[in-house]
Amino acid sequence: MDLRLRGRKALVTGSSRGIGRAIALSLADFKVDVAINYLRHRERAEETAREIEARGARALVLKGNVARPEHVHRMFETIAAEWGELDILVSNAASGVLRPATELSLHHFHWTMDINAAALLPLIQEMVRLPSKEEKVVVAVSSLGAIRAIPNYTAVGASKAALESMVRHLALELAPNGVRVNAVSAGTVDTDALTHFPNREDILETARNRTPAGRLLDPQDVANVVIFLCTEFASMIHGQTLVVDGGYSIRG
Ligand SMILES: NC(=O)c1ccc[n+]([C@@H]2O[C@H](COP(=O)([O-])OP(=O)(O)OC[C@H]3O[C@@H](n4cnc5c(N)ncnc54)[C@H](OP(=O)(O)O)[C@@H]3O)[C@@H](O)[C@H]2O)c1
Repeated sequence: MDLRLRGRKALVTGSSRGIGRAIALSLADFKVDVAINYLRHRERAEETAREIEARGARALVLKGNVARPEHVHRMFETIAAEWGELDILVSNAASGVLRPATELSLHHFHWTMDINAAALLPLIQEMVRLPSKEEKVVVAVSSLGAIRAIPNYTAVGASKAALESMVRHLALELAPNGVRVNAVSAGTVDTDALTHFPNREDILETARNRTPAGRLLDPQDVANVVIFLCTEFASMIHGQTLVVDGGYSIRG
């Protein structure tokens, strides 16, 4: 299948593992060169880079905390030096403090907001300064916690709601400049992230039982929607959050 993405350049934040890794490998399947960003797990990032190269695309490995604008700036300096352009930004890296709201400090709250929401600003600001081949595409990865209440998820849910709002505002502001901004909101995916939930088994069980499509999502289900948003088939989709959850969130 030719989606006319060949030769584009992408940055996928948080792509050493999990959903980000699946997105990076899917882009490489369509011959997109991918910059892998990670924070702690260098070996996992390098393994993803080797898989990208095995698929016939180029890879860059960039360590950096997306919540630190100076780290983001350094990552873009490397991209500018190595590639001189960037066509696709997938803002996927996320973290956050999972606690009951009554036990959340403002430090926990701001820390979560900085990584999951605020980081999109320096990322996009750096991206718009670089040239691109055609239109620029930005996809942010969100979760159903932006619109639903989930135990222990107050800070992350609020950060994802902020992220989806930022996507709308950035899309409005940047569409006239040839930048298309959207989000993908995923249901439960069994990645390392779930091991931080005290009630991981309950979450997986509920997702399995309540998903009309009859199975859990896997990272590739999310990657497929990100790829779609990167293509010209999505050229008139701006500022939207596309939900990929096997129907979980429509259930009454
Ligand atoms: N899993 C789910 O059920 C689910 C559902 C809906 C939405 N999502 C969203 O999907 C995205 C990916 O989630 P995931 O489950 O794949 O997570 P994950 O397995 O925990 O992986 C997180 C990735 O983000 C990187 N990262 C974490 N903090 C970072 C920071 N401050 N700066 C740069 N990179 C950082 C990690 O790098 P290191 O490897 O170096 O630590 C890793 O590559 C997130 O936006 C998440 O909210 C997940």
